[in-house]
Amino acid sequence: MKLWGGRFQKETDALVEAFNASIDFDKRLYAEDIRGSMAHCRMLAACGIISRAEAELIIEGLHEIKAEIERGEFVFSAAMEDIHMHVEKRLIELIGPVGGKLHTARSRNDQVALDLHMYVKKEILATAALIKNLQETLLETAAAHQDVIMPGYTHLQRAQPVLFAHHLLAYFWQLQRDRTRFLESYQRADWMPLGAGALAGTTFPINREMVAEELGFKQLYENSMDAVSDRDFVVEFLANASLLMTHLSRLSEDLILWNSQEFGFVELDDAFTTGSSIMPQKKNPDVTELVRGKTGRVYGHLLALLTVLKGLPLTYNKDLQEDKEGLFDTADTIKMSLTLYAAMLRTLRVNREKMYAAAAGDFASATDLADYLVRKGLPFREAHAVVGRLVAWCIAEKRSLPELTVSELQVHSPLFTEEALPLLTPEAVVAARASRGGTAAAAVAEQLQKAKQALAE
Ligand code: ARG
Repeated sequence: MKLWGGRFQKETDALVEAFNASIDFDKRLYAEDIRGSMAHCRMLAACGIISRAEAELIIEGLHEIKAEIERGEFVFSAAMEDIHMHVEKRLIELIGPVGGKLHTARSRNDQVALDLHMYVKKEILATAALIKNLQETLLETAAAHQDVIMPGYTHLQRAQPVLFAHHLLAYFWQLQRDRTRFLESYQRADWMPLGAGALAGTTFPINREMVAEELGFKQLYENSMDAVSDRDFVVEFLANASLLMTHLSRLSEDLILWNSQEFGFVELDDAFTTGSSIMPQKKNPDVTELVRGKTGRVYGHLLALLTVLKGLPLTYNKDLQEDKEGLFDTADTIKMSLTLYAAMLRTLRVNREKMYAAAAGDFASATDLADYLVRKGLPFREAHAVVGRLVAWCIAEKRSLPELTVSELQVHSPLFTEEALPLLTPEAVVAARASRGGTAAAAVAEQLQKAKQALAE
């Protein structure tokens, strides 16, 4: 017999039962569901809606159900639809008809909203802690390689040399924005929906503030219809997760390139790579590729929920049950990715010679040569053209900038003197970029300080 079976004359079709049920995935909400029910029950007693003795029985029963679930003894079945029905049905089995009083002044519509709010709040904090852990790893790796020079790229073409630490710290700041973005969204997940009833409120003299207080909610939904319809906080979580995955995916791409034989800048540890079933020599960066690949499903979950919500009339519609699987999968995916990335970066080996050779062997100092001519009085646009012709000459002659002599430079502009030569090394190019936020050692050291402060705040 269904808990809502009163007005029905037929059994539910078996296919409908299977199609309608959410228990396979929403059983993950059991702890939130039971905690919310306990708070609701205490409030009902405090307001004189049920007796103290009844509340005690109900709460004891709920403790027992939680223990049964955690011992793996609880029996789940599609016939009971979702976690809310399972708990209530079992409660009545355990303590008798008084268990049926728990659902007074409540609907599954405000109940599921409450559970989801509690879940999202928990996941925001867990995610922020894992982002912080990865930020710390990036900071440590950057601090340990403060003198390593590598090519910086635009268009994936060598552009100007940078410190490896500078490159890593760029990701630190992306994650800083991600972490604070998650934490800022917490305030909107922190609205308490219970007491909305099915949609319009309840006829019982409830105390919503009391429930909010017990469950640690900052504020109440002021509109019962909004309370049972709102999934904005889930959308925000998915959007924040999407941007986080964008950043991890870009980091993945950098690591995959650097770890390739063609670059050889870093080597991922054996423990974080896998082999090939056919090619014995292979050591593949699967973790980074999977993080890049899983970005797709996280974006998909965001778009799926936006599509579910679009055009949905107020208030609760069963469509909203589709909010959960994507959310759970997203929370799992980002937590796993963040955890793996921190562990993987800690074991990363850095090949400073390869990085340096790539930064030195090219035209990475071309901008600095042009800047030199500017300091000698040439307008930048003309200086750009002079150095452009110099580079073309070098390419034809198979020469690199750092090996040029003054006389070779002077063929292209009489403004070049001996002073120009030391500007051509990667060290000089890096050191020259001392502007705030630039790649010079002192600027990066200052940035490291700022990053540490940002983590401490
Ligand atoms: N399993 C449902 C969900 O996840 C719970 C709420 C159901 N409410 C209802 N009136 N059918 O959305």
